Amino acid sequence: MKFSSTKFVKSQFRTLPEVDSFLPDLSGRTVIVTGANTGLGFECAKALTHRNPARMILAVRNTIAGEAAAREIVRTNPPGVKTVPEVWKLDLSSLASVTDFGQRADKELNRLDIVVSNAGICTEVFELTADGFESSYQVNNIANSLLAVLLIPLLLRTADTPLGNRTQREFKPHLSVVTSELHHHVGGRLPGYRKDSGKVRNYFTEREYFRPNQRYSETKAVNVLNVHTLSQLAGDKIIINIINPGFCHSELLRNQKGALGFFNGLMKEMMGRKTEVGARNLSWGATQATPPGAYVGDCGISEPSDLVLSPDGQKAGREIWNEMKSIWATRVGVDADALLG
Ligand SMILES: NC(=O)c1ccc[n+]([C@@H]2O[C@H](COP(=O)([O-])OP(=O)(O)OC[C@H]3O[C@@H](n4cnc5c(N)ncnc54)[C@H](OP(=O)(O)O)[C@@H]3O)[C@@H](O)[C@H]2O)c1
Repeated sequence: MKFSSTKFVKSQFRTLPEVDSFLPDLSGRTVIVTGANTGLGFECAKALTHRNPARMILAVRNTIAGEAAAREIVRTNPPGVKTVPEVWKLDLSSLASVTDFGQRADKELNRLDIVVSNAGICTEVFELTADGFESSYQVNNIANSLLAVLLIPLLLRTADTPLGNRTQREFKPHLSVVTSELHHHVGGRLPGYRKDSGKVRNYFTEREYFRPNQRYSETKAVNVLNVHTLSQLAGDKIIINIINPGFCHSELLRNQKGALGFFNGLMKEMMGRKTEVGARNLSWGATQATPPGAYVGDCGISEPSDLVLSPDGQKAGREIWNEMKSIWATRVGVDADALLG
């Protein structure tokens, strides 16, 4: 689909269904939401907790903020809901933290029904993580997809142990990754897309490729491509989809200053969705029976950009995937083929 400003504005003002109209009872289920201490992740975690899952795990880098979020969710639990969210440490700027989280999930969870991979950053500042990757590529992509690879085996095992009555048994485990409408705005700057491809790793690490106002869009396009690959590799026992929440109030632009900060602040006041409203898209995608790899927007199925669907985009997706596989293998000893095979 081509980006259209008119469609974007219409979508921003569309009324989305209330979560109570579509969220199923989650009794007995185990749910993980990343970046659940604030913003869209918090609102999604709150809505899903209110459907009474057996375990709700708030995966956060700041556990004090996570505990405060857990208390707030419990405070608003409807009568009869006894779920108390657990707070687990997950820092996507450290690949070791991601593998620790994956190992803990494998050891401590006997099932995993829903993962909302929501945590992300938007920064105009070039910074390398301790692992040596540009911070937004690491947080939004390299670590985000590593987490998916580590959790998919547990989602697949859960698919073989359905719960409860027939309706409940029809529910497939879900992995929902959060992207952005801005993935349309990458131009030709998708790593692996340009003629000088074969340099994907440089793209992830080098300052010369960093365009402050484009990097976020690039990472969100890579989210879409990686979800496409993951859903093909994981097969149809589980549902993997990608979610566009729309332009929403949250803390995402907390560090944006100057003219861009002013412009985006103004836009948000004029047409930003309330955080709770944007998060309905996350709750919808994480619980509805969407097709594999579906692109979710406005609590329904939509389409990503033409570029990511094009043969060039798909080729870039394969190159990026292969590069990430080699990063996971060499840095943290994770063999994605073995885990997803
Ligand atoms: N808001 C929008 O308009 C919009 C539009 C499209 C897509 N999105 C996407 O929606 C998702 C949620 O963003 P938001 O708008 O709710 O922003 P937000 O309020 O800033 O929330 C982002 C969450 O991600 C967490 N996070 C950041 N870096 C992390 C790391 N290294 N390890 C673990 N967690 C980390 C943050 O934790 P801290 O609080 O500790 O920083 C926070 O919990 C993001 O993927 C974003 O790209 C947002």
